[in-house]
Amino acid sequence: MLTVALPKGELLKNSIRLFQSVGLDFSAFLDSGTRQLQILDASGQAKGLLVRGQDVPVYVEYGQAQLGIIGYDVLREKKPQVAHLVDLQFGYCRMSVAVKASSAYKSPLDLPPHGRVASKYVNCAREYFHSLDLPIEIVPLSGSVELGPITGMSEAIVDIVSTGRTLRENGLIEITTLYESTARLIGHPLSYRLNTGNMHQFVEKMRQEAALTAV
Ligand code: PRP
Repeated sequence: MLTVALPKGELLKNSIRLFQSVGLDFSAFLDSGTRQLQILDASGQAKGLLVRGQDVPVYVEYGQAQLGIIGYDVLREKKPQVAHLVDLQFGYCRMSVAVKASSAYKSPLDLPPHGRVASKYVNCAREYFHSLDLPIEIVPLSGSVELGPITGMSEAIVDIVSTGRTLRENGLIEITTLYESTARLIGHPLSYRLNTGNMHQFVEKMRQEAALTAV
């Protein structure tokens, strides 16, 4: 049987809608009355696992799920050994460097050598500043990174920007974008080769759905 890993949070509703469009119904995960983390889809063809976004590639790498949906940002940060199957065209956001709006930094190159940058995406941040040949100290955080510059702990942050509201309401501005991100369908490479749970037909349908969205 096919098992899919679905991400909690921002991407969940669209992920469930996409699976519904290919005949797999995991909408029970949206039912606030349940705390179940594993469910069978309504047609009995597949099992759904509800996991944190960062953990989706872990279940797919270990082969506990043959398919998963995750943001490109997580793929860039974690570099998991999974097959990148489809750009799903939803969940748009970007990875940016931001600073206090009142600061004098207009570009990342204005940041002081050995200055501090707070981030949940330490690998992306490190790679980016390395590519600029700018030595900085990464301060790893797991959330509310905007507080880094606000409290004076760091000069800048590297973080996801979606609507831009969090930056705005905390007096921060973007000074550059590292890359743009959308939701991606990933697969367990061996299962994909073996077409476990008839996964090719679902992947193909999702590819068609995504192409329609892109138009
Ligand atoms: C993410 C991100 C920003 C915010 C951006 O945080 O880290 O803080 O969303 O969204 P916006 O541009 O639409 O305002 P998340 O909601 O995951 O919370 P966290 O900081 O606790 O991780």
